[in-house]
Amino acid sequence: MPIQILRGDITRLDVDAIVNAANESLLGGGGVDGAIHRAAGPELLEECRKLGGCPTGEARITGGYRLPARHVIHTVGPVWRGGTRNEPALLASCYRSSLALAVENGVHTIAFPAISTGVFGYPIAEAAAIAIGEVVRFLREQGGIDRVVFVCFNEEVEEAHRRSLERLLPDSGF
Ligand code: APR
Repeated sequence: MPIQILRGDITRLDVDAIVNAANESLLGGGGVDGAIHRAAGPELLEECRKLGGCPTGEARITGGYRLPARHVIHTVGPVWRGGTRNEPALLASCYRSSLALAVENGVHTIAFPAISTGVFGYPIAEAAAIAIGEVVRFLREQGGIDRVVFVCFNEEVEEAHRRSLERLLPDSGF
């Protein structure tokens, strides 16, 4: 099964690309965004400055610099405003856009954090169901990606992803 769920710090993963839960400025922030910029070093911000931002739901790719990962794919999740502002579709678009950009750039192994579930306040169970659903659909419909890792920073997020995967793919041994 090309999907892995694990607990840990995404900045330490040796994969082709790690995904950053950024904001529309792409100029850094707290949470996983702050951790990735700290680990990658100042050249990451220098490259991000040249990108001119990124709309919610879309993704941009940069180098990984001092990270073990070769690339960072920056995507901007929706801020949770109760679920009536197109949040589910925008969050799904983050996963799809990141995977499409990965394939376009010859990325075969990619790691995601739980986009929007921190500062942006997206309910974890719903976000995990969208994340797993979009990744499984992409892997079924398109080639190019060999492995997707969901890197969960805490127990609640990890369990939510495991439950979502178990519901979608029973007996997948998760
Ligand atoms: N590795 C993996 N996951 C992490 C790490 C890490 N080192 N640090 C935090 N996380 C997890 C959080 O626990 C949460 O589950 O990443 C998930 C996303 O949380 P945030 O980083 O807060 O991102 P998000 O909710 O999408 O909010 C984005 O926060 O940091 C700012 O600049 C960012 O404005 C943007 C906003």
